[in-house]
Amino acid sequence: MSIATRPDIISFAGGMPGNELFPVEEIDEIYNHLPFDIKQTAFQYGPTPGYPPLLESLKEYLKKKGMPVETNRLMITTGSLQAINILGKVFIDPGDLVVTENPCFIGGISAFKSYQAILHGIDLDRDGINVPLLKSFLDQSKSRPPKFIYLTPNFHNPAGTLYTEQRKKELVPVLQEHDLMLVEDDAYGELYFDEEARKRVVPMKTLYEHELDICYTGTFSKILGPGFRLGWMLVPQEIYQKAELCKQSMDACSPNFTQVLANEFLRTGKMELYIIKMREVYKRRKDTMAAAIRTFFPEEITWLEPKGGFYIWLKLPPNIDITAVLKASIEKGAVFVIGKTFDPEGKDNSHIRLAYSHTPEHKIERGIQILGACLKEALKRPA
Ligand SMILES: Cc1ncc(COP(=O)(O)O)c(C=O)c1O
Repeated sequence: MSIATRPDIISFAGGMPGNELFPVEEIDEIYNHLPFDIKQTAFQYGPTPGYPPLLESLKEYLKKKGMPVETNRLMITTGSLQAINILGKVFIDPGDLVVTENPCFIGGISAFKSYQAILHGIDLDRDGINVPLLKSFLDQSKSRPPKFIYLTPNFHNPAGTLYTEQRKKELVPVLQEHDLMLVEDDAYGELYFDEEARKRVVPMKTLYEHELDICYTGTFSKILGPGFRLGWMLVPQEIYQKAELCKQSMDACSPNFTQVLANEFLRTGKMELYIIKMREVYKRRKDTMAAAIRTFFPEEITWLEPKGGFYIWLKLPPNIDITAVLKASIEKGAVFVIGKTFDPEGKDNSHIRLAYSHTPEHKIERGIQILGACLKEALKRPA
């Protein structure tokens, strides 16, 4: 983060929106027009499960998307990372097995490891998690079954993958057979780039509520601002009760101040309009990065064009020294994240992650040119 936020560096590192994209004026206006007593409420502690008006408006929002809000309980959390962390705390005893995708969101890896879970990553391909590999792992682990599986089916971080409907369907009998609970992380589902992707972002929590046990998490970080530190979980009643107890001891409540503002942003329909604009901005940034990669990167590097979200995940030839490329690239003014960071077992994987979300188009092109030159140089001198 310290390098990623240096003004002289073009950063493809942090998975965050650009500062220039935040709806600062809308939020100014919302605050200025709040009744005085609501402003006072905003400064106060609030109920552990969330500011009741925000819970109501978020429930309405998720209901419109077809999510099973009536048969589950909704809780506001301090970022969705807290939701993931709480689920880890509820379910994991030291030495328990947890299945993730490989690669996997670093926050999930560190949350589960903090409760001393043993992580096992199953490879992702272009359509989602590799189901035969998952099945065979679960078959082998019958004497010591994992506590849950953690998946990000929509615009995966770091892989950018959007699961196909078919892949989600194939997962159902495997999870059923092994009675395995799913933690479904949907941090990026709103940020699709076209109609086909829009149809595919339907959460498993919506599709398979009756077939599977699913704890669903979401966040305001990518559709309003990470500084709000607001996310949520939608979970079955029994899990909700345990999660509420955990949250009580963690931070008593998520910030009431930002919950009041997020509620107005959501309730008045401003958020939906803002998300429409953001989809366009991120698509333009993705298009610019994709075009620059085609122009400036060596052909040996392979990648898939994302259909939404923040990231492009690239596979480098195995003989490239990625750490040396990173050093050279920082010296010349561009930074990215090495793929090993996202391996649940910390293994090398010859990948890098580029985020296009917080860099304006003209800088994206320049940064990719710098990185392309460093990659070409490294290919001339194999490790
Ligand atoms: C896949 C995924 N899940 C969850 C989060 C956590 O976000 P937050 O805690 O800001 O809601 C992130 C943030 O980068 C993410 O990429």
